[in-house]
Amino acid sequence: MSYLAHATTPSPLFSAQALSSTEESTRPRCCRTPLLRTDPRCFFKLENFNSGGSHKARAARWMVEQAIASGSLTPHSGQTIIEKTGGNLGVGLAIEARRLGFDLELAVGMSFSPLKRRVLQLYGAHLIGIEMLQEGAQPAEVIHWHLEQAEQLGKRYYFIDQFNNPANVEAHYRETGPEIIAQLTANSELGGRPVVLVGGVGSGASLSGIGRALKETFKQVEVIGVQPAGCDILQEIFIDHNLQGIAVGVKPASFDESLVDRFLHCTEADAYSAQRTWTRRHGIFPGNSSGANIWAVEQLASDPAYHDAVIVSLIYDNGEAYVDPH
Ligand SMILES: Cc1ncc(COP(=O)(O)O)c(C=O)c1O
Repeated sequence: MSYLAHATTPSPLFSAQALSSTEESTRPRCCRTPLLRTDPRCFFKLENFNSGGSHKARAARWMVEQAIASGSLTPHSGQTIIEKTGGNLGVGLAIEARRLGFDLELAVGMSFSPLKRRVLQLYGAHLIGIEMLQEGAQPAEVIHWHLEQAEQLGKRYYFIDQFNNPANVEAHYRETGPEIIAQLTANSELGGRPVVLVGGVGSGASLSGIGRALKETFKQVEVIGVQPAGCDILQEIFIDHNLQGIAVGVKPASFDESLVDRFLHCTEADAYSAQRTWTRRHGIFPGNSSGANIWAVEQLASDPAYHDAVIVSLIYDNGEAYVDPH
C-alpha cells in the first residue's frame, strides 16, 4: 500500500475575506486527504480522513462559507442553519455551525439509525420535528413547517438545501477534483493514460464536481456512476437498499447527468464482499457506499477494455456507523 503525495496547492475559499482571523484559524484542516494507490492503476481518495469523517465535510464548509460570502449568513449573529439529512452532511454542518457561531437544526428521517442521531447530537446538532416524523411526516415537510413558522418560533433560518445548492458541487469541482489531479499528476508514469472516475450519486455533487474537473484537465476521461442493483437514477427508479448515501430517492439538481458516461449496478452482497476484502487488505474500514465503489473499481480493473486506464474512486466515510449491532 502506498500513498501519493498530498496536493500542495491551496484550496480556494469562497469567502476568506468574510471570516475573521480567529474563524480562519479555527477552520478545520479538512481539505487534504490522501490518495491511496491499491495497485499500479487503482486509486482511492480517502475522504474518511476529513474532519467529521467524510467528503460531506467539504460540501458543508463550502455551502456555509458561500452563504457567508453572499451575505445570507453572518457568523455569530444568532442565525440558525436548517437542513434535512441523517448522515454525513449533518456532521459537517455541525462542525461548521460550531466554528462560525450558528445554531443547527436537522430533520432526520426515522429510518436513520439511533446511533447516527446520537452522533449528530454529540456534534452539537439539534434534531427537530421528532413528533411530526413519528406521525409519518417526511423530513422535507418538517423543514417546510419550520421555515413557515420561523417568525413564531423566533428563528432566523438559513436553509442549506444541498440538492439545489451550487456550492455543494463547487466544493468538489474546486477542491476535491484539483487535489486528485495534483495527486495523480505527481506520478509522471501515469501521464497520457485514460482516466476513469467511479462514484455513486446521492446529491450527485462529488461525482459531478470531480468529474467536471477531471474532464476539463485530462484528454481522455470516462465517468462511471455506481448504483444499487434495482435503482435507475436517470429514470428516477429507486428501491430500498442499505448502501446509505447513494440512490436516495431523487434525481437532484446538483447531479449533472451529462457528465456520466455510463452506470454499473452493484448488489449489496457484492458491495459487502468487496468492502470486507478491502478492509482486511488495507486496514481501513470503508462505509457501504464506498464498498460499491470498490466493487466497481475491481470490475473495471479486470476488464481488458480498461487495461491501460488509471481508475480513481472515493472512500466516502468509515464503515463503523453501518454495522448492525445485532
Ligand atoms: C456515505 C455516503 N456515500 C455517498 C454519498 C454521495 O455523495 P454525494 O452527495 O456527493 O453524491 C453520500 C452523501 O451524503 C454519503 O453520505
